[in-house]
Amino acid sequence: MLNGYKYFIKTYGCQANEYDSELIAGILEKFGANPVDNEIDADIVIFNTCAIRKNAEDKFYGRLGALKKIKNEKKEMIVIVTGCLAQKDYLKISNIDYVDIVLGTHRISQLPTILQELKYNKNKKIVDVDFTGRTEPDIPPRRLSKFSAYVPIMFGCDYYCTFCIVPFTRGKMQSRPKEQIIKEIQDLAQKGYKEIILLGQTVNAYGIDLKNSYDFADLLHDVSLIDGIKWIRFTSPYPTNFNDKQIKTICTIDKITKHVHLPLQSGNNEILRRMARRYTVEKFLEVVYKFRELCPNIALSTDIIVGFPYETDEQFQDTLNIVKQVRFDQAFMFAYSEREGTKAATYPQLPLKERLKRLYELISVQNEITIEKNREYVGKELEILVEGESDKNPNKLEGRTETNKIVVFDKIEKDLIGKFVKVRITKSYLWGLEGTLLNFG
Ligand code: 5AD
Repeated sequence: MLNGYKYFIKTYGCQANEYDSELIAGILEKFGANPVDNEIDADIVIFNTCAIRKNAEDKFYGRLGALKKIKNEKKEMIVIVTGCLAQKDYLKISNIDYVDIVLGTHRISQLPTILQELKYNKNKKIVDVDFTGRTEPDIPPRRLSKFSAYVPIMFGCDYYCTFCIVPFTRGKMQSRPKEQIIKEIQDLAQKGYKEIILLGQTVNAYGIDLKNSYDFADLLHDVSLIDGIKWIRFTSPYPTNFNDKQIKTICTIDKITKHVHLPLQSGNNEILRRMARRYTVEKFLEVVYKFRELCPNIALSTDIIVGFPYETDEQFQDTLNIVKQVRFDQAFMFAYSEREGTKAATYPQLPLKERLKRLYELISVQNEITIEKNREYVGKELEILVEGESDKNPNKLEGRTETNKIVVFDKIEKDLIGKFVKVRITKSYLWGLEGTLLNFG
């Protein structure tokens, strides 16, 4: 149906979106289209959008604006907007005259039917956004990697943190049946995949909605029994969903990589309450210390929002103090961005300047810690999974440790991409590590 067509997908945002783009690519290729790496050469352009913060939104609208001229010169081009903004702002986006299809996050499975419809009526505008359950396409994803695969285990989120748009764009929590997940990973293992990244907005709440007492720890355990899969990663958990069983499972099963993302958001209890986070700082620290007790070398990363409504300077200092106390390996740090439709967007807002000032202060504190944490790796011999050429230097390869540290080393003749190799760490930086190759095979 799309033989000879060229498609280009621009993906914004998180791994859930990256996975959805793989699904879309799978569908388009099944119908005969081939990928290209820019809008100008494409017959079908897909924007898979992100709504998490205003700047993600601005980036998309900027790039969509630039497409107007291209589409004017190439009237046959099909423009598809999907992802979280398509879900949230479908009315606004469908009013843009050169957008042909607006496809919600639950409706990717409908793409084949929609493309068919468009074929018979080229001038039609199609808006397909749904707020009930998500259905999965029958066509498998076109995975970008041959050795590492995203496997969503749950969609949506029931938590309604007051800052967060996700429950409005991804809908209610919906866990996939365990049999489906296990079968998919068995197939991936057979195809030679070595690393599996389990995805979910609150990944460790897996199964709660299925009400059959099979939980995230059980799933991790069963996935670890699949031959051929060497590393199991997962993201993104909710800190206090980790119970003793989960922590023990993660710390004792070798195949589960020793990196856990624990989004703190704020180091002050009053702000956590206003964010509708379901824990106190004390509870959060308990989880940190339990992980470190059972697994002293575990790497911990976090997400933090500064300049949330009502945050005083003292409350911001509490966040700095917790960051200094915990010493995360890595932190993703954000100035609060009001999202229309969320509760916190109705609160009185701090000036943007103040938010940014706090952000820069936090970043400088955390950067020192990240540098120190990375320095502890110098001299160590570690196994890494080689992911590809280094972005910055084509003479180097780049891989990742099981603690999620990037390691760069000199390229050799042999093709090492997708293989596990041993490296000795020689240097450390803010962004990661440099090493020398010890052995491979
Ligand atoms: N403003 C700033 N950061 C946000 N995040 C989510 N919503 C917002 C917002 N409105 C951050 C949180 C979350 C991460 C994915 O993005 O820290 O964990």
